[in-house]
Amino acid sequence: MSDEGYELQFVKEAFETNWIAPLGPNVDGFEKELADYVGAASAAALSSGTAAIHLALKAIGVTEGDLVFCQDLTFSATANPIIYEKAVPVFIDSDMKTWNMDPNALEEAFQKYKRKGIVPKAVLLVHLYGLSADIDKILKICNSYGVSLIEDAAESLGTIYKGSQTGTFGDYGIYSFNGNKIITTSGGGMLVAKDSSKIDKARFWATQSRDPARHYQHSELGFNYRMSNIVAGIGRGQLKVLDKRVEKKRQIFEYYKSELKNVEGIGFMPINDWNEPNCWLSCITLEGKIKPIDIMLALEKENIESRPIWKPMHMQPFFKNYDFVGSSVSEELFQAGICLPSDTKMNESTQYEICSIIKSL
Ligand SMILES: Cc1ncc(COP(=O)(O)O)c(C=O)c1O
Repeated sequence: MSDEGYELQFVKEAFETNWIAPLGPNVDGFEKELADYVGAASAAALSSGTAAIHLALKAIGVTEGDLVFCQDLTFSATANPIIYEKAVPVFIDSDMKTWNMDPNALEEAFQKYKRKGIVPKAVLLVHLYGLSADIDKILKICNSYGVSLIEDAAESLGTIYKGSQTGTFGDYGIYSFNGNKIITTSGGGMLVAKDSSKIDKARFWATQSRDPARHYQHSELGFNYRMSNIVAGIGRGQLKVLDKRVEKKRQIFEYYKSELKNVEGIGFMPINDWNEPNCWLSCITLEGKIKPIDIMLALEKENIESRPIWKPMHMQPFFKNYDFVGSSVSEELFQAGICLPSDTKMNESTQYEICSIIKSL
């Protein structure tokens, strides 16, 4: 069956059985199947990955004025929910070895705030571009201070760290099924947790916090964050092709590596021994005269889209007044990095063309 075949089958079933609602068998099925795939105790299907981060913060009890230590090099959706709760992000620099949160900078932040008598409420770690962070070291620090860990695995579904899926090590993990992700439902997210009761509570908040009463009764603030049964049908179909997608993404990265490895000044995103990345995006860094913008413009002339590495949060106008702990690794990566085209539908001749353009510069 084609990739789309599975999705249509689940969606058709939803129509035929009239389950066109924010609950139903596809929602239950997708939650169970994703939880089984990643090895999580329980999962809640939500309208977005951002909603999942928001509910994870709420479940931890993050509230006005609390500090959250958040990875600096990420997409803004990681940090925005901290502001939704009127909490305060402290941005933590990356480690060149992983491109993700630097354990030394995290420890430094804990020490810095300990001196002021402040302990953060949560640590928000990201597995950027499908590369896993050095989770063991981060977890050890969180445990030593008794602080909860949320893993933003929006980009890393299918990535393995020391034998287990990213998103399953912290107290909470989140995945995104946004249009550009390794599998997509057009829009959607999933929250997973070690403690199933926390997931039950997240489902409750996500369905407008409806108390169990015949009439509409609400004792808590609610959100409309649930995934619909139609969307979940697409997710169930997509999950069936996730392994194939990961394989293809890894091939794309390997191709770039083999074609560009001898080009002076080009570096590749780091793959550590303990990391089997999903290679959601293939990224390179440049050293020397040629800058990312030169490559982006040359590709653009041929109608090929590429993108800089995410701009760090501490450099974003909206977040610039929040504290940042570290040196300048995230900024260096932003200045030197490019995300190359990584679509699984791309064929080798397009990749060959991309590599030829880069080499010609
Ligand atoms: C690192 C990261 N975190 C969070 C999100 C938010 O996910 P969503 O778009 O499903 O809200 C995304 C993607 O959009 C992301 O790349």
